[in-house]
Amino acid sequence: PRCFAIVPCAGVGERAAAGGPKQYHPVAGQALVAHTLSALARVARLDATLVVLSPSDDQFERHVPHFGGEHAWVARVGGASRAESVLNGMDELVARGAQPHDWVLVHDAARCLVEPAWVDRLMAECEDDEVGGLLALPLADTLKAGASGADGAARATTTVDRRDKWAAQTPQVFRLGLLQPALRHALADPVTAAAITDEASAIEALGHQPRLVVGNYENIKVTWPGDFALAERLLRTRA
Ligand code: C5P
Repeated sequence: PRCFAIVPCAGVGERAAAGGPKQYHPVAGQALVAHTLSALARVARLDATLVVLSPSDDQFERHVPHFGGEHAWVARVGGASRAESVLNGMDELVARGAQPHDWVLVHDAARCLVEPAWVDRLMAECEDDEVGGLLALPLADTLKAGASGADGAARATTTVDRRDKWAAQTPQVFRLGLLQPALRHALADPVTAAAITDEASAIEALGHQPRLVVGNYENIKVTWPGDFALAERLLRTRA
C-alpha cells in the first residue's frame, strides 16, 4: 500500500490570537506550516503530501513558495471543522488514485516540531495493525475537571484518574477505507461531530481501538500565544 499525508491547514487559529491564521505566523524565520512541511518532506515512506487549505486562502503560496510538484499537492477544500477538512482531503486523494488499502497519515499544520524519525516510528508500529494508530503521551500532569465558580473564577470540581489517560498528538495513521467512512459517520450527527477532535476519535466511535504509540514532548501543537516563542526556541536549538 502507498502512504499519503494530509495536512489540515484550513483553521483560523483563534486561540493563538496571532492577528491571522496561526499556520502563517513566522517562527524561526519561516511560516509555521513551512517547518511542518519540510519535516514531512524528509519522511521517505510518504508517497505524497496533500495540504488542505481554506477555499479563501490567499497566503499559502507566498509563505511556502517551494511547495508543489509531483508529490506535493494543495487542495482548497477546507471545511468548517478539522474533520470536514480531512474528509474533503480524502476525496481529493481518491480523485488522485488513492485506494482503500492505502494509508492516510494526518498531521496538524500547527505541529511544526514533528521529526521525521517519529513519523517513521508510528508507521513502522502500525504497518501490520488492523486499525492504525497515533502518537500520544501518557498523561504526566494531574487532570482536573473545571467549572466557572460563583465568583467567576475557574475552579476544580473533581480530579480525573490519569492512570489510563493519554494526550493525543498527530500524526495519526489509518487505512483510507476505514478513515473515510469513520469521518463520514461521525459528521452525519451534529452531537458526535462536535466531539470529534482528531481522526482516532472517529475510528473509536465505530468500535475500533487505535494503537497508542509513545510520542514526544516536543511535538507541541502551537495553540496559545506563548507557543510561538516556545516553538521558536525548540527549532533554534535543533538548527
Ligand atoms: O484548531 P486546532 O489547533 O485543533 O487545529 C488543528 C489543525 O487542523 C490545524 O492545523 C488547523 O489549521 C486545521 N484545521 C482545518 N480546518 C478547520 C479547523 C482546523 O484544517 N476547519
